[in-house]
Amino acid sequence: MSQTLTTRHEPARPSTAPGHTSPERARTAQRAVVVGASSGMGAAVVARLTDAGHAVAALDLATATWPQDSRAVHRGSVDVTDADSVEEAVAEATRELGGLEIVVNCAGVLGPVEPTLETTQDTFQRIVGLNLGGAFAVTRAALARMVPAGYGRIVHVASIAGKEGNPQMAAYSASKAGVIGMVKSIGKEYAASGVTVNAIAPASIETPLIAGMTAERQAVQRSLIPMGRFGTVAEVAALVSYITSPDASFTTGFVYDLSGGRADY
Ligand SMILES: NC(=O)c1ccc[n+]([C@@H]2O[C@H](COP(=O)([O-])OP(=O)(O)OC[C@H]3O[C@@H](n4cnc5c(N)ncnc54)[C@H](O)[C@@H]3O)[C@@H](O)[C@H]2O)c1
Repeated sequence: MSQTLTTRHEPARPSTAPGHTSPERARTAQRAVVVGASSGMGAAVVARLTDAGHAVAALDLATATWPQDSRAVHRGSVDVTDADSVEEAVAEATRELGGLEIVVNCAGVLGPVEPTLETTQDTFQRIVGLNLGGAFAVTRAALARMVPAGYGRIVHVASIAGKEGNPQMAAYSASKAGVIGMVKSIGKEYAASGVTVNAIAPASIETPLIAGMTAERQAVQRSLIPMGRFGTVAEVAALVSYITSPDASFTTGFVYDLSGGRADY
């Protein structure tokens, strides 16, 4: 697949990305890697980006169960807690795609919802290492390819928990606050490179992650949202689709709200 990049800050476009059905799609088709792609938000982002005509490589744990209907052109295994694994998986995906304009990182875990005094240091480090350390590893692998090309869109899934702090979720909240700080830092650092680095901060979204909470905890989470409902993965994918588009060209180091009115900032 040849790359037709001619000027800096113009997205490279694959000449033959699968899924082209119209000239408009062909104009905007790009190469995307989605991490944490087998489930929840990641699977919805894969579907949305393939619908838009992008060539998508889907990465997740080797043990992941994949949706039958995924139209990803490449499927690879990755463990975001291992930076070498991330580098290898992104390198392989980029080779398969013929280039890389979009990286969306949806890999993350909630961890136990429990009092802080019952939370071990090991648990804290595991959750922060996966959610924040993983986001850092994914960002580095993406930047290494996008900065030389002069164009890219990197999006991480942070959380409203990172802005507000959810009780009994200290490790998770800290990890997502860390993602927000990291995105602000790296976004500024690479602002003139043509690569944008942003995050979204969802409130509760209907996914397996939320289904794993007790009914009582789900009710608490829902009560915090002024719209009175959980968000959907389609709503997540729609926002990610915009942030990863060439149109989203003057926003970097930013955290987009997706909280049904919950967030105050
Ligand atoms: N669902 C919500 O309400 C909600 C709200 C705010 C933020 N988030 C965040 O959104 C992201 C996506 O979550 P989701 O709700 O779709 O949950 P999910 O459990 O459906 O998806 C998470 C994905 O991450 C993958 N993953 C876990 N550990 C990994 C690792 N070490 N390496 C690679 N992949 C790994 C899982 O296999 C899974 O596919 C997570 O970062 C989560 O913290 C979720």
